[in-house]
Amino acid sequence: MKITIFGSGYVGLVTGACLAEVGNEVLCVDIDTRKIDMLKRGEIPIYEPGLEALVLSNSQSGRLAFTTDIAAGVAHGLFQFIAVGTPPDEDGSADLQYVTAVAKSIGEHMDSYRIIVNKSTVPVGTADKVRSAVENTLKVRGKSIEFDVVSNPEFLKEGAAIDDFMKPDRVVIGTDNPRTTELLRALYAPFNRNHERLVVMDIRSAELTKYAANAMLATKISFMNELANLAERLGADIAQVRLGIGSDPRIGYHFIYPGCGYGGSCFPKDVQAMIRTAASVGYDSTLLQSIETVNARQKNKLFAYIQQHFKGDIQGKTFAVWGLAFKPKTDDMREAPSRVLMESLWAAGAKVQAYDPEAMDETQRVYGDRDDLQLCGTKEAALKNADALVICTEWQNFRAPDFDLIKQMLHQAVIFDGRNLFEPKRMEQKGFEYYAIGRGKSVLREKS
Ligand SMILES: NC(=O)c1ccc[n+]([C@@H]2O[C@H](COP(=O)([O-])OP(=O)(O)OC[C@H]3O[C@@H](n4cnc5c(N)ncnc54)[C@H](O)[C@@H]3O)[C@@H](O)[C@H]2O)c1
Repeated sequence: MKITIFGSGYVGLVTGACLAEVGNEVLCVDIDTRKIDMLKRGEIPIYEPGLEALVLSNSQSGRLAFTTDIAAGVAHGLFQFIAVGTPPDEDGSADLQYVTAVAKSIGEHMDSYRIIVNKSTVPVGTADKVRSAVENTLKVRGKSIEFDVVSNPEFLKEGAAIDDFMKPDRVVIGTDNPRTTELLRALYAPFNRNHERLVVMDIRSAELTKYAANAMLATKISFMNELANLAERLGADIAQVRLGIGSDPRIGYHFIYPGCGYGGSCFPKDVQAMIRTAASVGYDSTLLQSIETVNARQKNKLFAYIQQHFKGDIQGKTFAVWGLAFKPKTDDMREAPSRVLMESLWAAGAKVQAYDPEAMDETQRVYGDRDDLQLCGTKEAALKNADALVICTEWQNFRAPDFDLIKQMLHQAVIFDGRNLFEPKRMEQKGFEYYAIGRGKSVLREKS
């Protein structure tokens, strides 16, 4: 099948590469010339495990190509995927300018039937807006050409995106037309062999499903963070509480780890957008607002511990920061808790020596050169002459470090761990002051 994908970011590129891998002819279109030039040279603009090999082999076989030529994109595919960004507007609602721009482009250039598949995360009612944008543009051209609009939200996780696309938990198809259901069923057939994964529904429900999924996951995290804060004050250990509640199959062990807050390009903006959508229909979304509030507070937690430990005397101190990406196995820094921490440290006059296995270039791009940020080549180099270690991301290779070396290199044997990587008792035995989330130690200090 011939497929065009607008937007070559995390979602567009993964979708394009996976659809090409199973034999389709895919053309990826992006307005970012630098990105497309890189992709044409075989360079991958983002870090995602397995993506490079997939893009390279499919580009070489000619099934995957890249262009900035929008007209060529519209001419190529029967399927026109929209996978562009939907960042938050000033008031938190989803900014649909990129989605509408693609819709207009399709209307401007199409000359035969097209099926427009929206993969971007968009508020309920966006498919109608896309349809109107295409219709209006066709009208200006004096043309009447048939097309369909389908909602097909994406549920991939950065860090496991290829696997998620190849073996999806579900493929949600929102449609008002049986013809499109059959076309999408055929398109997704290679990913739907083991058992039925297609969940076909009306368009508005499909649009809402994506927000519902992300809001639910964000709720689990904020709930556990709230409980961790409570556990600290009550002298309980959240790690044990997690095991105790996770054993109930209605709750489950997954996604109930407390930490220094959720980040990334999805949860924060999607919860915000949902709050705005609720407000637009006159509904006061108390729960969604609380998820946000708890998360914002949690992102300040590590800094609060640091202030407490150093009794507010942070000016001129140096902090080793391990982990910059918002989660492991990605280089994505969008809304990462590490940013809130580093920016608070800088505002208080401290310096940061940072290391991340994949997000160093992205950190450099975000913050540029500054005297109070040193990007270090290894996690050990980040410790040199630092006053303390702070952990913001749970990368595998932070889990069993050389504690003797850490002690030797730091001015003080103190670790602020936003991801609960170590056992507090063991850390105490090793002579560390260890601050984790909801695991007791910090409570005692709060009381003393
Ligand atoms: N990143 C994720 O994990 C994830 C998962 C599921 C859903 N989503 C959703 O998918 C959408 C895309 O997310 P992303 O992380 O891939 O974004 P991204 O920022 O990585 O990529 C978006 C790309 O779209 C391009 N673009 C903008 N306007 C364009 C236009 N008119 N024509 C062609 N290209 C254009 C941008 O240049 C950019 O390269 C968002 O709505 C997001 O919420 C993201």
